[in-house]
Amino acid sequence: MLVTLQTSISGINFENPFLLASAPPTSLIESIDIAFQMGWGGAVVKTITPDNLEMTEASPRYTVLEDKKHIVGFQNIELLSHKTVKYWHDGIKYLKQKYPQKVIIASIMAPVNKEAWQNLVKTLNDTPADAFELNFSCPHGMPEKGIGMAIGTDAEISFTITKWVKEVSQKPVFVKLSPNVSDIASIARAVEQAKADGFAAINTVQGFMGLDLKTLKPLLNVNGKTTYGGCSGIMVRPIGLRCVAQIRQTSTLPILGQGGISTWEDAVQYICAGSNAVQICTEVMLNGFKIIGPMLKGLKNYLEEKGFSGIDALRNKAIEVLTSHKDLIKTPLAYPQINHEKCGRCGKCVTICMESEHQALQLNDGNITLDKNRCVGCGLCRFVCPAGAICRE
Ligand SMILES: Cc1cc2nc3c(=O)[nH]c(=O)nc-3n(C[C@H](O)[C@H](O)[C@H](O)COP(=O)(O)O)c2cc1C
Repeated sequence: MLVTLQTSISGINFENPFLLASAPPTSLIESIDIAFQMGWGGAVVKTITPDNLEMTEASPRYTVLEDKKHIVGFQNIELLSHKTVKYWHDGIKYLKQKYPQKVIIASIMAPVNKEAWQNLVKTLNDTPADAFELNFSCPHGMPEKGIGMAIGTDAEISFTITKWVKEVSQKPVFVKLSPNVSDIASIARAVEQAKADGFAAINTVQGFMGLDLKTLKPLLNVNGKTTYGGCSGIMVRPIGLRCVAQIRQTSTLPILGQGGISTWEDAVQYICAGSNAVQICTEVMLNGFKIIGPMLKGLKNYLEEKGFSGIDALRNKAIEVLTSHKDLIKTPLAYPQINHEKCGRCGKCVTICMESEHQALQLNDGNITLDKNRCVGCGLCRFVCPAGAICRE
């Protein structure tokens, strides 16, 4: 079977579905240049703003969440591109001349003012960028100015700005949505009504990493104070996947999925949830552009193994199995099956089952036994067993 990673979205050809997300790895033309040489299919440039938009960065900008010394996510408070519109105007032209087959998306943000948005779009219309991405979703700094997430959490303003942009844009327009809303589908519907061509989701999840308990100072300590920031990386992946699926359940427009993608398997999950291509930021910031090699190889091998000729065959696979809780078939129960040879008799499953309500597992004569009259098939014991001795019946 001939497998291809190529895909086409809103008339744009992608040599592969892996894009750099708008973020520090796309803050410089030189960096994007290197990433393209290493195999990335495209890049969304760091969000461009009108030159007169005042932005002062705080220092430091990051703190991390670690699990046994492994970084599982960032909280960042970085703002947008500090380069001029001319820098991006000329830089995008340079990149597209050098790499005509790579996809370049201009991420933009402006104050809630028709002229400001339309001027930015008109200036960048005159570049070979393939599309615009409207950043309605930065959760820190910009909402205080009434932009970023302040736009993406309000369906009416999101509709209005998308409409302004669509009036003048000569390119497809993707709207980057915020996960920090109670109903992302309602915002997606509003921008679709304003004729958006597609979505990008998710931007960072607003969060607070807390204090250093030795000093009682903030972990993200900006001269003794801190602020809520944007969380990213693998810790946000389930939120991103949920948002992408909810958008897909309400719209057939293309989605550029992102949020916690660190492996090709994560990318497949996003495609199954409805994404047409994926974007990556935090994993690149932790391990460099070179991660694209294993991503391309892994995805291609997987498609080959599955007998699929391309990623289209995977799209929406998760949508087919998503239903409401009410409609889940509730029987038979998924009882645990204990592998007594593997079991280390540590009793952890017994304790957890005892203390988390059901009291269905017991240690009797050195063996774990199950009382099916008490077991509700919740599945928790499987996940706490350190020996991997419990599977589903
Ligand atoms: C330090 C940092 C800066 C970011 N800057 C932007 C930005 O300028 N524009 C934007 O749309 N998203 C920005 N993002 C969000 C990312 O593009 C991406 O949506 C988010 O981090 C989730 O993907 P990830 O888990 O792969 O990082 C930024 C993220 C980080 C961590």
